[in-house]
Amino acid sequence: MRKKFVVGNWKMFTTAAAGAQLAAAVVQGVGKADRVTVAVCPPFPYLARVAEVVRGTPIGLGGQNLYPEKEGAFTGEVSPTMLVDVGCRYVIVGHSERRHKLGEDDAFINRKVKAGLAAGLQVILCIGETLEERKGNRTEAVLDRQLTAGLAGVTADVLGGVVIAYEPVWAIGTGHNATPEQAQEAHTFVRRRVGQLCGEAAAAALLIQYGGSVKADNAASLLSQPDVDGALVGGASLKADDFLAIVRAGVR
Ligand code: PGA
Repeated sequence: MRKKFVVGNWKMFTTAAAGAQLAAAVVQGVGKADRVTVAVCPPFPYLARVAEVVRGTPIGLGGQNLYPEKEGAFTGEVSPTMLVDVGCRYVIVGHSERRHKLGEDDAFINRKVKAGLAAGLQVILCIGETLEERKGNRTEAVLDRQLTAGLAGVTADVLGGVVIAYEPVWAIGTGHNATPEQAQEAHTFVRRRVGQLCGEAAAAALLIQYGGSVKADNAASLLSQPDVDGALVGGASLKADDFLAIVRAGVR
């Protein structure tokens, strides 16, 4: 049985005080519940502050990005070892906003996957097609490319450190989530493809999250799909009550 995994991606929102408060509300709301794995990914400047709030609780901490080197002259960047140092267990890589607004390509994202794994982080690799690609029947081809390139060099023995987040670009921040059937269809494809790349056993254990306008009122139907193993939540993760309702939907 794959345990559901719900992650809050705060993107470039909150303040130090609001982030600490939000994290505290999530800690309190989740309590000792261990039937869903829960993590929050605050902006870099607030990681240390939120780390204090979640320390010793079941709530995990994640970075929203990393630069694929341990250290060096990379002004403005953050290394995987720094994320570990500040208390992160997770990191998001390949988010569509970074692919499409900041021009990150598959090869660069692959370096991030490998650097994150090498540092001992659990890497959440985001993939997903644009509306144009879906309309052009290219969804599977795009997912195939993003998986093949993103997981290049990732072997079955380390795939346990990878989570895939299927996030159709047209569903992110738009209020138009994929239907549970569309999500299930894409997730089935992802699992099959990862099975070909890394082996069936590793693919069967792989957690595949859905992301894109997950809200309190659609989470249960999405999370009830057999291959939807969790949610990567943007907007709705900024309100504790909404985020906690999604976590509860994962428990059922
Ligand atoms: P959203 O964002 O929930 O606001 O659509 C999801 C994401 O970008 O991870």
